[in-house]
Amino acid sequence: MLEGMELGIIGGTGPAGRGLAVRAAAAGHRVIIGSRDEERASAVAAEIVAAHPDRTLAISGGTNQDAAGAALVVIATPWEGAVATVTALRSDLEGKNVVSMVNALTKEGREMLPLYPPRGSMAGQIASALGGSHVAAAFHHLPASEMQNLASGLEADVLVCGDHEGSRAATIELIDTIDGLRGIDAGSLAQASPIEAFTAVCITINIRHKAHSTIRLAGI
Ligand SMILES: NC(=O)c1ccc[n+]([C@@H]2O[C@H](COP(=O)([O-])OP(=O)(O)OC[C@H]3O[C@@H](n4cnc5c(N)ncnc54)[C@H](OP(=O)(O)O)[C@@H]3O)[C@@H](O)[C@H]2O)c1
Repeated sequence: MLEGMELGIIGGTGPAGRGLAVRAAAAGHRVIIGSRDEERASAVAAEIVAAHPDRTLAISGGTNQDAAGAALVVIATPWEGAVATVTALRSDLEGKNVVSMVNALTKEGREMLPLYPPRGSMAGQIASALGGSHVAAAFHHLPASEMQNLASGLEADVLVCGDHEGSRAATIELIDTIDGLRGIDAGSLAQASPIEAFTAVCITINIRHKAHSTIRLAGI
């Protein structure tokens, strides 16, 4: 079991980053929320801590480069900015376990549709841009609202894929320490394409059913 590991979240000021930050900190990890604007990140970190006076949450804010200095780094920017963001941090992320939670999606009416990046997935794009990092993909199907609310009763399986066994294992180990989440090894980075695309289905279901559902796999 990991104890108090350091997690950096690039683009961590949005709903997805905030949700992961509070859950990971509640599990005893130290979280650095990264941003293009250090002050915004610090304000978001302080806001999360202040909203949970009954807990000791080790969450701080910094630049995206500060977040990239953590032991495990999650990419939580919109898809449009992900490749440029990680490319600028290439040397900081060299040799590290980097986890993409980025989904490339577009909305059409009451439906969400997947966009297919040239390398099949955003995780593939990020892995290609970084070259020397160990890229995994995870957290795609988790509704941020449920992640942010520690009392939501969230119970979700998190599909984790990647070509580097150590990176996949470290990501699953982290996930399994977080209340409400179970990490599932879903294979190589090639699986990131259907995993990311399936997020469109999850969000469309949630729109149609006015729900915040997530996925649970039976039989495993
Ligand atoms: N929301 C969810 O429920 C959810 C669940 C699973 C996965 N995801 C995925 O996680 C990622 C983040 O989702 P989100 O809803 O938190 O997104 P978001 O709020 O739109 O963006 C997250 C943060 O990224 C930064 N950012 C925005 N545009 C950027 C750009 N062009 N380049 C670099 N940084 C930029 C912003 O932070 P600063 O301005 O502070 O730099 C923003 O607060 C997305 O790829 C999404 O598909 C979302």
